[in-house]
Amino acid sequence: MLGKDLLSVSNLASEDIQLLLRDAADIKAGGRLSLLSGKTLAVMFQKPSLRTRVSFELAMRQLGGEAIYLSPAEVGLGERESIPDVARVLSRYVDAIAARTFSHQTLETLAAHAAVPVINALSDLEHPCQALADLLTISEKKPDLAGLTLAFIGDGNNVANSLMLASVISGLNFRIASPPGYRIREEVLSLARGYAMESGAEILLTEEPAEAATDADVIYTDVWTSMGQEAEAEERRRVFRRYQVNDELMSLAREDAILMHPLPAHRGEEVSPDVLDSPKSVVFDQAENRLHLQKALLATMLGSLEIPLPRY
Ligand code: CP
Ligand code: NVA
Repeated sequence: MLGKDLLSVSNLASEDIQLLLRDAADIKAGGRLSLLSGKTLAVMFQKPSLRTRVSFELAMRQLGGEAIYLSPAEVGLGERESIPDVARVLSRYVDAIAARTFSHQTLETLAAHAAVPVINALSDLEHPCQALADLLTISEKKPDLAGLTLAFIGDGNNVANSLMLASVISGLNFRIASPPGYRIREEVLSLARGYAMESGAEILLTEEPAEAATDADVIYTDVWTSMGQEAEAEERRRVFRRYQVNDELMSLAREDAILMHPLPAHRGEEVSPDVLDSPKSVVFDQAENRLHLQKALLATMLGSLEIPLPRY
């Protein structure tokens, strides 16, 4: 992974993910280490963020490095300046770029012209840092990941794509219940099917939330309307109405099932308030683990984790 981009979970092998989870758990247990001293990260976003921006900036700072936040208005990516030129200029200043873009193609162009690693901080296609932090969260609750069943209820969106890839690469069975027209993209599905063959994980696609949720270990949901799709919000509320994760759906999952959501959440839409705020919900662990996982990721990508971390 050293010096490489992370645009998709499919850039990682199962061993990379295992090492990241181990290192993130070590970093979480051990507090602040000076792994990124002298390093700088550009955090360049075209869309709003709470968790991703704060966790990337703090990850750099707490490990002795620096982060520079670049807002959409400042950079004008592809408007004030061409994407290749932004990539070339930033590469002369910083050691890595974490970018949140509307189009995944923008990230690909950035990465193609940057001399430093580019990290996907969410695009319309994937959200790899979220999926990796989510595996860390699941492993804290259920240490043996392989063989668990994760059921995603809702839109076949960026979060679902990355989660499906991360799950099947790591041997978790992945189910998704989506309405027709909102299924996971065929190209991501075929990639996932290939990984599932290797790991032995199973993939199930259905239109029925109950079929996906039955006996699952993890119930996962995300917003029905992602950033950039605001004009479709009303139509999506209508289409997804019966895809809400509520007590009735949770009761079909295993007794010890956990509820996950990347946040921000819309209580009363994709998830009922009583479920989101119940003891089964691990959504704030997920948010915290973005910080720990991204510390491990940055330290690995920027070359500070070649020597195994001390065990605590
Ligand atoms: N989950 C997540 O990526 O949150 P933000 O959009 O607030 O960064
Ligand atoms: N699917 C959501 C995730 C936000 C973290 C979006 O893209 O807006």
